[in-house]
Amino acid sequence: MPTRRNFLLTGVAATAGLALPTSLHAATPRFAQIKARKASIQLAPSPYPETGIWGYGGAMPGSELRLAQGARLQRSFVNELPQASSIHWHGIRIDNAMDGVAGLTQPAVEPGQNFDYDFVVPDAGTYWYHAHNRSAEQVARGLYGALIVEESEPPDVDREQVLILDDWLLDPETAQIDPDFTSRHDRSHAGRRGNFIATNGRHDLSLDVRQNERLRLRLINAANARIFELALAGMEGWTIALDGMPLAQPKPLAETLILGPGQRADLIVDVTAAANETAHLVRIEDQEGISQVAFPVIGRAAVARCEAPAPLPRNPRMEIPGIDSAVTARLNMQGGAMGTLDAAILNGERKSFRQLVEANEFWAFNGTIGMTDTPLVEVSRGETVKLQIYNDTSFPHAMHLHGLHFREIGKDGGLGPFRDTSLMFGGETRTIAFVADAPGDWLFHCHVLSHAASGMMTWLKVT
Ligand code: C2O
Ligand code: CU
Repeated sequence: MPTRRNFLLTGVAATAGLALPTSLHAATPRFAQIKARKASIQLAPSPYPETGIWGYGGAMPGSELRLAQGARLQRSFVNELPQASSIHWHGIRIDNAMDGVAGLTQPAVEPGQNFDYDFVVPDAGTYWYHAHNRSAEQVARGLYGALIVEESEPPDVDREQVLILDDWLLDPETAQIDPDFTSRHDRSHAGRRGNFIATNGRHDLSLDVRQNERLRLRLINAANARIFELALAGMEGWTIALDGMPLAQPKPLAETLILGPGQRADLIVDVTAAANETAHLVRIEDQEGISQVAFPVIGRAAVARCEAPAPLPRNPRMEIPGIDSAVTARLNMQGGAMGTLDAAILNGERKSFRQLVEANEFWAFNGTIGMTDTPLVEVSRGETVKLQIYNDTSFPHAMHLHGLHFREIGKDGGLGPFRDTSLMFGGETRTIAFVADAPGDWLFHCHVLSHAASGMMTWLKVT
């Protein structure tokens, strides 16, 4: 059958008497719009010029989406970028057709076109949305925002704050984004790491607080590759949720919190620093603490809460029955610099590591580079799956499963918290378990986006 383009080129439509579509452009958006477009923001401090970015609503981070648990999100994505794009709703248990993976769950939305996203958010928590076409470039250019789903009974805090952490790779002279998004070095090593670190698009984010205040901090790591190691100074706190999902018991933040790309953490913190001092969210880098966000203490709240926060209410249908009889699969990750990969299948052909380097493809799952027509696992809806993952590489990887949440099975058989992204260091083995309770094609990939772009991507089929 001729495509619409053929019709137009050959004039068949007219001679065959077929009606042309009323508009050759995209259908009119049905919902409130999220426009992706070019913009510039003052990212680096003046006298640096503004940095050209791509942003949702022309802003960076993109407009915050906030809704009640169980509500329906309806947005028309309007693409005003010079590149095709799509939006993925990271961490949401979602209808597969709305998952936003260009090339798998929908076609990429071409410049000038739009796509209607329409889905229910079943779980309360901290999520984010980001571009999912050429992500290593599009997320690095700024295409992301927070997606917050509120509990019907929120925890007892004075207020909350969303903190999106990112690092940018900027030209040190011009403060413009480095346009080499396919760098061979970044792909084969730790990914595209930035030289300019910001929170919510500001390098000097500063939020006034009062002593004794209790805050909820919703942390989102939107960086392409950077692993943030965080600690508190002048504040005491607990982790209450990871990747949006409540912990059964709030966990005191005694050690540092490690947040891999794509991961989130909800903290409840009490400001302990006195008036006129400054509390900090601290980033640990080369054993040194650097302020990531400053919290100047401008006064004193009446009462300090003495008790630890109560756990957040559980999200619905979060169980993993039948782990012992689960469908089991293995995933061996190989490749990259200083790795063990000698050869792998690329586009159906066996290639030596040298040939892979030439092709700028570096990472294999079970000996194959990138997506193929065969899923890693195919199961029926409702089955429990156990995936044994071995990171046989020299680099950390942040493995993200779309649409489903998993738990790590500890060495002692105990189950870790529900997550959607698992950070695995080189040499680590990890077993995750989940229930395939939503039909569709679900992506499973490394959230170090240069790794995903050079091989670390596979998918699961649930029928
Ligand atoms: Cu947050 Cu497939 O991505
Ligand atoms: Cu990786």
